[in-house]
Amino acid sequence: MYLISELAQKVGLSRSTLLYYEKLGLISSERKANQYRDYSERDFQRIKLLQQLQAGGLTLNECLECLESRINREKLQSRLKVLDDEILQKQKSRDLLASMLGMSSMKEWHQAMDEQAPEAHLDWLEKQGFSEKQSLRLKWLSKDINEHDQYMADFEHVFEGLNRLGVGSVEDTLKALQSIPLRKGTLLEVGCGRGASTLILAKHSQFEITALDNDEYNLCCLKESTEASLIKHKLKTICASMTNMPFDKMQFDVIWSEGSAYIMGVYKALESWKSLLKPGGYMIMSDLVWVSSERSLEAIEFWHENYPNMKTVQQHKNTIEKLGYKIVNTFQSSLKSWNNYLTPLTKKIEMLSTTTVKSKALIDIKKEMIIHQKYLGQYGYQVFVLKIRG
Ligand SMILES: C[S@@+](CC[C@H](N)C(=O)[O-])C[C@H]1O[C@@H](n2cnc3c(N)ncnc32)[C@H](O)[C@@H]1O
Repeated sequence: MYLISELAQKVGLSRSTLLYYEKLGLISSERKANQYRDYSERDFQRIKLLQQLQAGGLTLNECLECLESRINREKLQSRLKVLDDEILQKQKSRDLLASMLGMSSMKEWHQAMDEQAPEAHLDWLEKQGFSEKQSLRLKWLSKDINEHDQYMADFEHVFEGLNRLGVGSVEDTLKALQSIPLRKGTLLEVGCGRGASTLILAKHSQFEITALDNDEYNLCCLKESTEASLIKHKLKTICASMTNMPFDKMQFDVIWSEGSAYIMGVYKALESWKSLLKPGGYMIMSDLVWVSSERSLEAIEFWHENYPNMKTVQQHKNTIEKLGYKIVNTFQSSLKSWNNYLTPLTKKIEMLSTTTVKSKALIDIKKEMIIHQKYLGQYGYQVFVLKIRG
């Protein structure tokens, strides 16, 4: 038998709560000769059971119902579902904290964040000490802060010595160039890489070219390949981010960007780069797009993970018009353009695979190659030649 103070201490409740429970009929005391209340072991056990039900999220009334009458299965089932959801959320939060401590991969979390709150995701990465360049590479390439450095070192190793970092060819670059009436003036190339298109543009026009990339190594490769030629006099390189370019308004007649605008988002790029163009200036950009309505599940899943914002040509056409551009020409990059990119890359991967390189970057690039082999044609690169309206 327990005195009220003893029972209160044993169950961690106040005297007044016990008196309230008694009023509700959950427990009942007997009066001793000295008028003190006496509670039984049964009372103690009923309170313990009530506390367990309450911890499961049942209200006091629902707990009493459970204890006093037949269980309301429907109510309990719906409560069970809520509890299961809460446990799942807690598990996710636990996994996130563990992965933030480097105990597991953060890939899924980065992907979810990037889909739901891309700007906040980039802000957060920068708060963790990553530069803008690293944050964008994290978003598009490594997708995991815990593996970023090793992943990028391996990634760079794979692309070392390759000239083209994206899909393209002399023919496609010239086809776009021939769609505009200008051959001289100022041209800004954004995300020029190692200069695959820069050199073609320099050779076939009299433009003063500013080639911009945020990677010094890429720009060094470009400078090296122009060192001994006359082209170097009409070419300037700038290491800066496409998100914040150090130019005056209306400085360029043409902006050229093959396979790079996606990095900051094609529409955002078209919107913000527009102010750098002179009135009536031209914008040439290419992007990966869905070209067929027949899409295999494997390709959809792959691109959902790797380019979730991938649009169709028609979607691009609609938005481009709304952004104040007129479409002068648009065409799909040729198979040759794809081969120029894929063939040297495949050879390099084969070479590395025979060595001991077991990097995640290599696995990811190989996976992308397989997707291209199987499904290229359901998607492709589309080149857009645009003129500023008005
Ligand atoms: C897919 S590659 C295309 C390169 C080149 N246009 C070609 O076709 O070979 C993308 C390029 O954009 C550059 N890049 C990535 N983020 C950038 C940024 N924030 N600002 C400027 N360039 C960036 C990369 O260094 C890389 O050279």
